[in-house]
Formats: sequence, C-alpha cells, structure tokens
Amino acid sequence: MLDWMKDALHAQETGGLSWHASAWMAKRRWESTQKSIDSFLMDQTMEQTELLLIGGSAGWMMSGSWLAKFKSIRVIDIDPLASLFFYLNHGKTLKKSGTAWRFERRDGLRELTLLVKESPHSFIWFDNVLGQQCFKLKDEDLVLRQLKHIKEILKYRHWGSIHDWLSGPVDLVIPDSELPEIFRDQRHSIAFASNESLASNGENTLVVNNKSMDFDVGTQMLLSQVNARGEWQDHLSAEVFPTSQTCQLIPWFFKPNYCHFLLASFIKPSP
Ligand SMILES: C[S@@+](CC[C@H](N)C(=O)[O-])C[C@H]1O[C@@H](n2cnc3c(N)ncnc32)[C@H](O)[C@@H]1O
Repeated sequence: MLDWMKDALHAQETGGLSWHASAWMAKRRWESTQKSIDSFLMDQTMEQTELLLIGGSAGWMMSGSWLAKFKSIRVIDIDPLASLFFYLNHGKTLKKSGTAWRFERRDGLRELTLLVKESPHSFIWFDNVLGQQCFKLKDEDLVLRQLKHIKEILKYRHWGSIHDWLSGPVDLVIPDSELPEIFRDQRHSIAFASNESLASNGENTLVVNNKSMDFDVGTQMLLSQVNARGEWQDHLSAEVFPTSQTCQLIPWFFKPNYCHFLLASFIKPSP
C-alpha cells in the first residue's frame, strides 16, 4: 500500500501526481512539442496493429490519432493513477476508433524481456520514459548499462522511443512557440566530441553534469538557438539507439526558461 501511494505521488521521481499536475497546467506551452511528436509519429508507416506502450502514463504528450491507428494497446507504467488519466485523455478517441486498451502496473524495464515475449506481434514504443531512469535508479553505471542493453533485447523487434537526452536553463530571445520551426526536420545522428564541434573553440562549451561537454555542430547550433545557459543535465540516454542511428531532435519547453532536448527514433528489426 505504501509503495502504491508513493508511486501514485511521484512514481520514483519519474511521474505520478506531480507529473499529471505539471502536464495539465502546461498544456498550452507544451502544445507545439506535442504537435511535433504527433507529426513524427504519424509520418511512420508500420504494419503492426498491436502496441506495447512503455511509460505511457496518461499520454499527455501522445498523439491520439497515432494511438487510434492500433487495434489494441497495452499500457505499462509504474504509476497506479496513470490508467485513470489515460482514460480521461484518450478514452473517447480510442472508443471511437474501436481500439481496445488495458493498463498494467509493471516495471517496463525490469520486466522488458518478459513483456516483449508476452506481446510477440506488437510494435514497442517507449514514451518519454528512458530519460527518466537516472532519477529512478540514481546509479549512473546501472542506468547506462540498462539503457544500452535495450537494443540487444529488442534486436529482432520493431521498436522506438522518444526520450530526454539533455535538459537545462535557457534564455530565449524569440518566443518558444517559434522554436519548433527551427528544429523541424532536424535529422540528427548522435556524435559526441566530434572534430567539427564548435564547443572546442572554448566559446560555446556547455557544462553538463558538472563537466564541459563537446557536441557536434548541429547540436551546438540548436543549443545556441535556445540560448543554453548555466549547467545542463545529461539524462544518460545517448546510447539507447544503435550507433549512428538517425534521430529527430525535438525541443520541449518544460518550463518557460527550461528546455529539454528529446530524441526520437524508430528502429527496424535486424534481418
Ligand atoms: C515523463 S512521464 C511520461 C509521460 C507520458 N509518456 C505522457 O506523455 O504523459 C514518465 C512515465 O514513466 C513511468 N515510468 C518510469 N519508469 C518506469 C519503468 N521502469 N517502467 C514503467 N513505467 C515507468 C512513470 O510512472 C511516468 O508515468
């Protein structure tokens, strides 16, 4: 019962009531990010009609039209209140599309191997959950190992994820509603410490998790465009996708002066 209450309140520092309240209050500010996610998801073609949705929560940032494409959805989340809010946000749309959905309160990462075996025909989508494991596990090595291992577990499956990569304070000079335009169609391969990095000239170095970090030119430009300031946080999720995987970089103005860089990609099964 105590665990239930704690997970309902803050889901091991990754969500819970505090997440639902923030999402509800920030609905307007998050709208442009939500639209970018929506078009990213809707652009993909997939043959699966079943979805295994890990960290679905209430689907505050999720595209209802994308969810409605599936015949059935299994929502996995540790937050016991997620199903109520998911129903409030998407119940009507899913009823209309005839999509059956059910919620299971389970740890989608600890039980990943089992979950994917139980759903052999599903497309697997991690919805803004992998970048939160640094708060849940509080052990950098463990998080890195766990996140790196996902691509091995899912090697022969069609899967994808959107997750926090970096986040930190910004000092915007143009309205945040205009920024998604700048980021639109930014296809980006993760390339840390690239030789081309602007950060190496010393002027644009960004402090991330207490260390100076170099970025490839594309990321550095985006960091300049949002006027990144102060110390940023690394969500330890840079190695989730296979090396040199092309990702979509999506800005998310979590708060007016605090921006998250989300990475999103779809991974095809290995032949
Ligand atoms: C930032 S919220 C995601 C929000 C959701 N995708 C949305 O649009 O509302 C992160 C969610 O992941 C859940 N979560 C965190 N770690 C998890 C895990 N290991 N297994 C399942 N759910 C997890 C939290 O309970 C929370 O609901």
